[in-house]
Amino acid sequence: MAIQWFPGHMHLTRKAIAERVKDIDVVIELLDARLPGSSANPMLAELTGHRPSLKVLNKEDLADPARTALWLAHYNALPDTRAIGLDASHATSAPFIDACRALAPLRGGMAKPMRVLVCGIPNVGKSTLINALVGGRKAKTGDEPGITRLEQRIVLADDFYLWDTPGVLWPRIIVAQSGSKLAASGAIGRNAFDEQEVALDLLAYLAGPYAGLVEARFQLGSIEGLKDEEVLEAIGRRRGALQSGGRINFQKAAEAVLHEFRSGGLGRITLETPTEFGAWLAEGQTRDAERRARKRARKNRQDPASEDDDA
Ligand code: G4P
Repeated sequence: MAIQWFPGHMHLTRKAIAERVKDIDVVIELLDARLPGSSANPMLAELTGHRPSLKVLNKEDLADPARTALWLAHYNALPDTRAIGLDASHATSAPFIDACRALAPLRGGMAKPMRVLVCGIPNVGKSTLINALVGGRKAKTGDEPGITRLEQRIVLADDFYLWDTPGVLWPRIIVAQSGSKLAASGAIGRNAFDEQEVALDLLAYLAGPYAGLVEARFQLGSIEGLKDEEVLEAIGRRRGALQSGGRINFQKAAEAVLHEFRSGGLGRITLETPTEFGAWLAEGQTRDAERRARKRARKNRQDPASEDDDA
């Protein structure tokens, strides 16, 4: 689905990360445990090179525990990578410090303090995590995605420094399924997408592995075999989302679906497994390569002497 977001301070943040990463020992990437693949920034690996990486699957209290286990195993099998699940509001610094020390065992002590960079998309829980780690109000939290803060350094221990970067989304989504999942999760400002479309996409996915949760939460009969619009209509009726003439107010019904998903009212849900995301990514990469080839061909037709500089 088409999602129009403004990449905002992406270039600035990209530059800031590229600059900072030269003096960094471990990169912590906060991911949303409900959509770990879709919430990972594809630019990050390119920017941070071969730095050891700690993947933090945040909001694990909202995610399906069986699927979180699959994602943790997936990331822990990658070289120079560790992964932990987390509920940021209850975080303590010990597991972070331990995981970072395991990734960069030669760092530590006043002469060689551990230097860690924290990255993550908007609303993934960076401020909540940093507040919990420092136990104060140094990092500002807010629920409007896209608020950019200046890079800040936080001292977690005498020999352990953490740099926070502004949360940014990337300008173009390669995995077609990711846009809608990011919107459902709350990572994208609400003006950038159509809530009814996102709710229908969400219901379409939930009808597979989580049909029982949808039926239970909205007190519906079996939704098996129903079209997504019919499920949304049934939800609207159940929730009394009606407009004049008794017609269903689909917008209100969509808002109810998104609210129940985001707040955990539907239950613990994860919108992708590593296998599903791997297949979507491969598809997206193929489509992206084709798009680039078409662009290159167009450019060459217009100016046969030009060098291809499409990124
Ligand atoms: P950001 O800095 O990465 O942009 O995210 P931030 O910490 O502001 O968190 C975004 C929202 O996600 C906040 O909710 C925050 O409470 C919630 N959150 C962060 N970590 C977790 C977690 O591990 N589990 C759950 N369930 N929620 C988490 P909010 O509705 O915007 O604010 P509030 O109602 O908490 O005040």
